[in-house]
Amino acid sequence: MIIYKSMRKRIVAGNWKMNKTLKEGVDLANEINSKTEHLKDHSVKIILGTPFIHLAEVAKTVNPAYVKIAAQNCAAWSHGAYTGEVSAEMIRLAGAEYVILGHSERRKYFNEDGELLNTKVKLALENMLKPIFCCGEVLEERKENKHFEVVKTQLEEGVFNLPEEDFKEIVIAYEPVWAIGTGETATSEQAQEMHHFIRQEIAKKYGQSIADDTSILYGGSCKPSNAKELFSNEDVDGGLIGGASLNADDFLGIITAFQD
Ligand code: PGA
Repeated sequence: MIIYKSMRKRIVAGNWKMNKTLKEGVDLANEINSKTEHLKDHSVKIILGTPFIHLAEVAKTVNPAYVKIAAQNCAAWSHGAYTGEVSAEMIRLAGAEYVILGHSERRKYFNEDGELLNTKVKLALENMLKPIFCCGEVLEERKENKHFEVVKTQLEEGVFNLPEEDFKEIVIAYEPVWAIGTGETATSEQAQEMHHFIRQEIAKKYGQSIADDTSILYGGSCKPSNAKELFSNEDVDGGLIGGASLNADDFLGIITAFQD
């Protein structure tokens, strides 16, 4: 049986990073919420990845039936004397359903490695948070033709030791580091090629049916002008959006790229 892409969850997730004051964030969430209300079938899942302190307010602002909330990180411990950290449980109880883990900025600036990320993924799942697990190569790795190997290792370290039932909760985001915030987007072919590779690796590990049901998002300078082409690929199930998620109309332009 052929499983069609349309059976997978289509997702457009915003990653606000360290942008927007609380008031600006609530205003943006409000605008996105009201401008997406009319999308009748809500076949695209909308996720807002906000800073920690925005989570509870933004969760109260949006309609949870079609706008979900994500944190951008969580602690690698469940609770205790870890000054400055925020636990998966706190995030969940603030109203988030997702957590972005393994973003290249966390890997680079906070030295987060595969082992640590795997701990965070497991804690998130224990607390009923769905991880949006990011992977992607830097430019040198692509130039040296190591991009498949790099992404495979990131998946093996971060999520491939999960039991099947847990893996089903994972969303994968492929974000080539050279495309993040640079204005340089992976071509549609480069995105499809890597997404297909990722799906094959998932199939090898968990079987074709789970691979077919896993949403794999593209991230890296995705905007209204290129979203449609990127999302038209068989294995691209949506996007993780940085810069263009900070403006309601740009974000909406990406969401509606799926619909027309
Ligand atoms: P960008 O960021 O859309 O600004 O390139 C994507 C991301 O880092 O998730």
